[in-house]
Amino acid sequence: MNERETLKVNKEGHLEIGGADCVALAKQFGTPLYVFDEAYIRSMMRIYRDTIAEEYGGRGLVLYASKAFSCKAMYVIANEEGLGADVVSGGELYTALEAGFPAEKIYFHGNNKLPAEITYALDAKIGCFVVDSAEEADFLDAEAAKRGITQDVMLRINPGVEAHTHAFVQTATPDSKFGFSVHNGTAEEMTRHILQKKHLRLLGYHSHIGSQIFEKQSFVLAVEKVLSFAAEIKKKYDFEPEAINMGGGFGIWYTDEDNKLPAGGYRGYLSALISAVKEQCRALSLAEPRILIEPGRSIVGEAGITLYTVGAIKEIPGLRKYVAIDGGMFDNPRYCLYQSKYTAVLANRAAERPTELVSLAGKCCESGDLIGVNMALPKAERGDIVAVLSTGAYNYSMASNYNRNLIPPAVLVKGGKAEYIIRPQRYEDLVRFDVIPDSLK
Ligand code: LLP
Repeated sequence: MNERETLKVNKEGHLEIGGADCVALAKQFGTPLYVFDEAYIRSMMRIYRDTIAEEYGGRGLVLYASKAFSCKAMYVIANEEGLGADVVSGGELYTALEAGFPAEKIYFHGNNKLPAEITYALDAKIGCFVVDSAEEADFLDAEAAKRGITQDVMLRINPGVEAHTHAFVQTATPDSKFGFSVHNGTAEEMTRHILQKKHLRLLGYHSHIGSQIFEKQSFVLAVEKVLSFAAEIKKKYDFEPEAINMGGGFGIWYTDEDNKLPAGGYRGYLSALISAVKEQCRALSLAEPRILIEPGRSIVGEAGITLYTVGAIKEIPGLRKYVAIDGGMFDNPRYCLYQSKYTAVLANRAAERPTELVSLAGKCCESGDLIGVNMALPKAERGDIVAVLSTGAYNYSMASNYNRNLIPPAVLVKGGKAEYIIRPQRYEDLVRFDVIPDSLK
């Protein structure tokens, strides 16, 4: 299924993740349940870290894009593996700090960081802000001045590379709320703006071209655009970036319809990117900058699965069969949002071949509440355990309490044993912030 063989079918015909029997996990922890394989997460982190070490003399840093899955345990693992972290909100920053993550290795993103988030991050002494508006630069400069510090920043630029899973196109006037275009003068203007700030130190440029990308060429093209921009700026303002951050976006397997990884797998993406940086720097007479990348999905996506129990089954003759599970859009809204495709397995009968195509329906009061349509499964029965694969990224992190369903807990599997990394919610938690005002009493 996936590169590192997180998943296999054991002698009982049960699905195993990281050596743990999914049927036993469902019994022990209940369903729905997010399950993560620690070894997989660490192995992905190491691939990126070691590639930068071996092919670029360690001149760079891998930042875990924690939006993919943010909880304290993830920051502990990322820190142990020598990664930095990218955060995009005060909440992610708080979680990282609570987990003991070193503040200086935290990069703060966002197109509209709130003043309170900025001062919180400054007071926590985070490493770097990725600036994405003139007002942010102004505010940050003033706040840094008040604290008597010079704050490291990067500037988010838009290289005008629109990346898709299958192809990439260049857009001269990209329409995005993120970054400043290298094509219309705004990136240059913002660079100048930041360079004039006394209390900001511009490290270099940040670019992120999209997510679930399989084309190495898209990353190479982005490097070319970022470094040509850097060369232009060097000529005009004598500023050379000491670092560039090429964002995240490496694709993962969800179904067999997905593109295959390029030769060399995940190391291959980074190798291509590193070679492009070296080549471009030579061609443009730039000093080789430190290279930062921010993978999220590829670190944690295939490391995670979600276990559900089959409940109601409804067949609409000649039309469709709905197999309903005890989760839904509240734990995985990606079908509703993006019509994302997933692969499902009956964890208690994992050796059986699929015999039918079904729609995996959630339990929310909403017709569109599906995990997927036309998913191949053996004939499912009430009580079967369904495992939906590759749910480690952007599932828990986008979960909600819609319909006042409880967000499922998450366990981390190591050497076949599982422990909570996110405890189960209880109904009491749902009303914890509810208030009945006096006027209603
Ligand atoms: N850096 C920046 C600035 C980003 O905006 C993102 C993702 C990443 C890094 C990490 O990208 P990754 O390696 O995970 O592809 N909710 C969507 C995905 C949104 C991605 C947003 N930015 C989904 O469920 O597919």
